Amino acid sequence: MKRWRRKMNQINESIVLKNLQEENQRLKVLLHLAENLQTHLDLDKLLLTTMEEVAKILKADRCTVFLLDEDKNELWSIVAMGIEKGKEIRFPADRGIAGHVARTGEILNIPDAYKDSRFNPDIDKKTGYKTKNMLTMPLKNRDGITIGVYQILNKFDGPFTRADEELLSAISQITATTVENSLLYEEQVESLNSFVDTLSATLDTRDYITAGHSRRVTLYSVAICKQLKAMDCSCEEVRFAGLLHDIGKLGIPEDVLFKAGKLNQEEYQLIKKHPAVTRQILESIHFPRNLKNVPEIASTHHEKLNGQGYPDGLKNGEIPPGGRMLALADVFDALTSRRQYRDREPIEKVWETIEKEAGDTFDIQLMKVFLEVPLKQIIEILEYDQRDRLNEKELTLLAEIPLGTIIEIKRKDPESLDDQDKNINSLFDKYYQRNY
Ligand SMILES: [Fe+2]
Repeated sequence: MKRWRRKMNQINESIVLKNLQEENQRLKVLLHLAENLQTHLDLDKLLLTTMEEVAKILKADRCTVFLLDEDKNELWSIVAMGIEKGKEIRFPADRGIAGHVARTGEILNIPDAYKDSRFNPDIDKKTGYKTKNMLTMPLKNRDGITIGVYQILNKFDGPFTRADEELLSAISQITATTVENSLLYEEQVESLNSFVDTLSATLDTRDYITAGHSRRVTLYSVAICKQLKAMDCSCEEVRFAGLLHDIGKLGIPEDVLFKAGKLNQEEYQLIKKHPAVTRQILESIHFPRNLKNVPEIASTHHEKLNGQGYPDGLKNGEIPPGGRMLALADVFDALTSRRQYRDREPIEKVWETIEKEAGDTFDIQLMKVFLEVPLKQIIEILEYDQRDRLNEKELTLLAEIPLGTIIEIKRKDPESLDDQDKNINSLFDKYYQRNY
């Protein structure tokens, strides 16, 4: 009898221990998820990683997070395990178990999906999956409004338990807050982007002589920045600074800005003020932390390494890398743009002019990096206002050929060119000279 009791006690202790271990594991996963979901990383990736952990701890097959699209009254899968990225599941928000949960805010724990009249088998039919049991939770924001649902399918060892419900409820709360924060953040980024784009386009329209200049300078600078992987510089900051670098020209009277003849000393001094005005304007805009250097980068695009630039006569390292990229892109665009009174400078002449200023005005390392930018990309920027007319297939031939190659070809004796050089040359000329 005693031995039997001891045996029972041992069994009970091992069950308690196993339960404690499981509970401990669940708490660990919850803490880990809470920690991860609060970092501002790629939301899709984050959700997928957490779903995999949730599925593992609840011993289930797959999870999906659906969001409510209020405009269309539909639920759509922001992330779904087992479904290829980019292929979302979308269905009317009043259909199926997920629809019921989104509508009522109830938690539904269904032991056999096909026996439940609310279950919508259409998705199984589409995906070829066989749903057995399922647990579906509403995702509620801080105001208690349902913004989507968290669904977990097919627990391997029978229906979902009360403990599973509790764990998924906690996970859903954290997920809802994270998703909502992330959507709000995306919305803010989008509105800043559209504001800056519109501002930049307005500026480019006002100055008809240099139409499209800010856009092209931005594209060249970002191309340099992306090509240059080592320097401490954010391409996003360069992009914003490029779009807004000449915003200070808004402060220059039109009769000076568009004067056809030579500027007198006084007018020239006025023009030279525009980078300082750019800085003033941009410093009054509240940029998020990751864009805090935009005013400095934008306002240094006329500085020169030798200190002869304006507005502050900064030297070498005093000019931020982004400002040096803009300086190079600004001059490259000025020389390769068509004006009313002249055509584009031949590309080899353009580079010759830049080379004369190597080390004095322009950063030699950045010049080298610029020469590595593929010709296809250069043509797409040069002809940005004609981009619908570019022949993608044809330009693919220039996708691997760097800018430096065409300058070398142009400097060679035309008689000495081999067939490949001739092809590159004529294709480049076709677009550079706009014979298309
Ligand atoms: Fe400028």
